[in-house]
Amino acid sequence: MIRFEHVGLRYGVESEVLRDISFTLTPGSFHFMTGASGAGKSSLLKLMYLAHRPSRGIITLFGRDMSRVTRAELPELRRQIGVVFQDFALLDHLSALDNVALPLRMAGATDTDTVEHCTEILRWVGLGHHLHAKPSTLSGGQQQRVAIARSVINRPRLLLADEPTGNVDDGIGMRLLYLFEELHKLGTTVVIATHNETLIRRFNHPRLHLDGGRLQVVPAAAARGG
Ligand SMILES: Nc1ncnc2c1ncn2[C@@H]1O[C@H](COP(=O)(O)OP(=O)(O)O)[C@@H](O)[C@H]1O
Ligand SMILES: [Mg+2]
Repeated sequence: MIRFEHVGLRYGVESEVLRDISFTLTPGSFHFMTGASGAGKSSLLKLMYLAHRPSRGIITLFGRDMSRVTRAELPELRRQIGVVFQDFALLDHLSALDNVALPLRMAGATDTDTVEHCTEILRWVGLGHHLHAKPSTLSGGQQQRVAIARSVINRPRLLLADEPTGNVDDGIGMRLLYLFEELHKLGTTVVIATHNETLIRRFNHPRLHLDGGRLQVVPAAAARGG
């Protein structure tokens, strides 16, 4: 699904934020991404979404060498990726429901099915009373949940989420993780950056752990222990 080989990333002339990162994520795997604030979690997710280009090394996504992908090909690749990033905003002229519906409508789904499906998922994330609210009238945490609903609605091949439970209590956090679990059961490859140890411990998944710009893959059982 994704392979990184000796990937490095630097911003400007600074020293490398990510150094010599190598790992492979097999199709259908589920990983948490951990590491202190500033460790490079968001940067690594953005490399996976092709929002940044690496300073060195090779990234292979869906079997394609990313250094050979043209700008024109990017949208089609990105359509297969669901993302929940802090700075990938919702469209403010659309309601919560229409934001969530966007990926389905772009794929040509019928409107009755779309509205039903989007309503159901917004209820699940606790926004059943805000279906028609514009994003700007919602709190940060609520907006994030709309983004999460949108990211999973079309069952992407790959789901990348950056601290998706950052602004919610543990009850809602659990619901959000169940959403990602459901997607995972349907075959989606999932990577979730999070600080939330309580949630991590409830789900037995391996970790991609970042420290000092380096990545360590911690197997599931070991990740759970302690
Ligand atoms: N666009 C950017 N320009 C310059 N430096 C950046 C940029 N984005 C992140 N950084 C720096 O890269 C490092 C890793 O940041 P980030 O990937 O956001 O880490 P995390 O998500 O783990 O907190 C930090 O030192 C941060 O200041
Ligand atoms: Mg971050």
